[in-house]
This record gives sequence, C-alpha cells and structure tokens, in this order.
Amino acid sequence: MLGRVNHIAIAVPDLAAAAATYRDVLGARVSQAQALPEHGVTVVFVELANTKVELLEPLGPTSPITAFLAKNPSGGMHHICYEVEDIASARDALKAAGARVLGTGEPSVGAHGKPVLFLHPKDFNGTLIELEQA
Ligand code: CO
Repeated sequence: MLGRVNHIAIAVPDLAAAAATYRDVLGARVSQAQALPEHGVTVVFVELANTKVELLEPLGPTSPITAFLAKNPSGGMHHICYEVEDIASARDALKAAGARVLGTGEPSVGAHGKPVLFLHPKDFNGTLIELEQA
C-alpha cells in the first residue's frame, strides 16, 4: 500500500524563524509560506533531494496543531506523509483492518492539491500518519 515518503512534518511555534533556520543554518531550499485555512495551518516546504520537510505553524483559533505545540513549545515532529496510489482503496483496506481514519473519513485536499487522509496515531505506534494520493 505505501509508496514513497512524501514529507515529514514538524510543528513550529514561529514559521518565519524555522524557515530561516533551514535556509540559513542548514543551507536548504525553502518554499514561500502557504496558508491552508481549511487545515488550520500555514506551511513552508523544505525541498530536499529525496523528500520534503513540511514546517507547520498554527493558523486560526481552532488549529489542529495548537494542542501539540502547547505540549511541545519548541516544536516537534508532528506527522509523516506516505504516498498511496489510490486513497479510497487504501482507506477502505485500513478501515477493514480496524485502523481509525480521522475526521469524516473522506479525503480532503492537502497542501499539494491532492487528496489526503490522516490515521489515528494510537493505531500506528504513536505516529500521526498522513496518506496522500500520489
Ligand atoms: Co502533511
């Protein structure tokens, strides 16, 4: 079911500072900030040769990463995103295996304009998993 790692996401309290650290200290290429109000985050992508790192900052009062940052004030790894070929069939197979899909269970449109779903971290070793249709 799983293809490549599409990105690894890190929640950060200050997106501009985190982007500057990746650009200026680590010497990486970083994208412009992109607001995703429907996901409650603003994102910057660090573009690496083999994958991307997604830096996430809360956007709006009901951001899904606010509680995470309250527990991890300096930021921390938030989720890992794997590519799948067909998100609906992946979801159906995961649900049949007893895994919990977050939200309505219907894919939403992610940062790359492609359908995404999130899986409950308690079902996957404490890691929030995002699936993105490649
Ligand atoms: Co993501």
